[in-house]
Amino acid sequence: MNNTRRDFIRKISGTSALIVGGMAITDAYGKTITLKSEVKISSNDNIRIALIGSGIIGHYDTDTALKVPGVELVAVCDLYKGRLERAKEKWGASIFTTRDYREILARKDVDAVLICTSDHWHDHISIDAMNAGKHVYCEKPMVHHIEEGQAVIDTQKKTGKVFQVGSQVASSVLTAEAKKIYESGVIGELCYVEATNDRSSANGAWQYTIPTDANTQTVDWDTYVGDAPKVPFDSKRFFRWRNYKDYGTGVAGDLFVHLLTNLHTITSSIGPDKIFALGELNYWKDGRDAYDLVTSLMQYPERKEHPAFQFYTRVNLADGGTSGSPAKIVGTEGIIELGHGSMKVKSFKRPKAPEFGGYDSVSTFSQAQQEESTKAYKALFSDEDKKWSYAKEITFKVPEGYDERLDHFTNFFESIRTGKKVAEDATFGLRAAAPALACNLSARLKKPILWDAEKMKIV
Ligand SMILES: NC(=O)c1ccc[n+]([C@@H]2O[C@H](COP(=O)([O-])OP(=O)(O)OC[C@H]3O[C@@H](n4cnc5c(N)ncnc54)[C@H](O)[C@@H]3O)[C@@H](O)[C@H]2O)c1
Repeated sequence: MNNTRRDFIRKISGTSALIVGGMAITDAYGKTITLKSEVKISSNDNIRIALIGSGIIGHYDTDTALKVPGVELVAVCDLYKGRLERAKEKWGASIFTTRDYREILARKDVDAVLICTSDHWHDHISIDAMNAGKHVYCEKPMVHHIEEGQAVIDTQKKTGKVFQVGSQVASSVLTAEAKKIYESGVIGELCYVEATNDRSSANGAWQYTIPTDANTQTVDWDTYVGDAPKVPFDSKRFFRWRNYKDYGTGVAGDLFVHLLTNLHTITSSIGPDKIFALGELNYWKDGRDAYDLVTSLMQYPERKEHPAFQFYTRVNLADGGTSGSPAKIVGTEGIIELGHGSMKVKSFKRPKAPEFGGYDSVSTFSQAQQEESTKAYKALFSDEDKKWSYAKEITFKVPEGYDERLDHFTNFFESIRTGKKVAEDATFGLRAAAPALACNLSARLKKPILWDAEKMKIV
């Protein structure tokens, strides 16, 4: 669809291209809501996309994007020959393929690009793409290094292109339900959050399969290295790039960023001001230079959106038993537990009366004093005043087959079509990525990192 037609649709009405319908579900309060991806879009409003980085998530993202009505794939770019061949096998022989992403950006028939490369290319390709007039869906973390973030934000502002970071949890209906509960105040004052993403398997620890034909003929190694230090071809550094600091951001940059995205979406927080982390390489000693266990504590100062609270997070790639633990958002009067696709909320009100008896000092007083204290307590408080009140547990489960990535892409394409705000813009993306990246810094320097989330700068 050309820009003039899109501008026209935008002008006549923010929702003119949308027909509401589809499956409705019941929210945490029993009210009926419609999933983002169930808001139907007329398919004569075509958006043509290209994929840059046709690896694992490139496939997930493209397949998901193509489920949104009116989205068409025209081109694929990758640095490994086998992945370009696969793109044609899977998405059709007419797909244009190239090793050079600039050829994609030069095409007039590409409206938007999905950037699914290793992390060290995110900022370069995002900036070039927006300058070339393309809308961008860029995988998380938005940048490889904190200092690269501002240029992405500036380019988005200058070009006015739609820019969405690909941490799909930001568009999840589960996150939206947790946000509703958090904002209702039912858990009292937020004081502590805990979220982990532990794994045990080799694929979970990023030991992905390396093809038997990996060599300098099939891989464009010189281009791949990009702004990283020049080193000779190494298939592990290409196909298992996450394990090397030159191309990836380690467990913190890669996985904490999802947890931070979730937390910031739920609490509307702009981020912590202190980040402490410990990093170890304990188990996956396969030549990698990235940690396989990182734990972190972050201090969120009081802001207008929330009270001061602490955030504990961890990824252990050689986990012996805690994988799948729910995230815990803990307030002074309750807890939101977020599992995979489900939420439980427990809350209570403390009694008006202070505790008396039991594990208390009263039994250590003289008999006469115990009787006096008991009389005084009974005179002040009724039985009602002594009761704890527990609210009925609130639960929510996403519908069977629910896909938050589809909701995230729906949000991206809706923004292109109607000008609606994306769920995860460049500023949000940097505020989620920077504390995660600061964990690597804290672990390496063995000291806390002070972060100015407002100005988005390390202090
Ligand atoms: N949102 C999510 O849930 C999620 C999940 C997994 C990965 N990711 C992110 O997606 C990105 C890709 O991860 P992956 O697991 O798919 O990696 P991958 O190694 O499977 O694929 C990356 C591809 O990028 C290509 N590439 C690298 N530099 C390029 C360049 N300059 N031009 C063209 N192609 C280039 C490589 O050839 C490779 O095929 C990472 O940033 C990762 O953090 C996000």
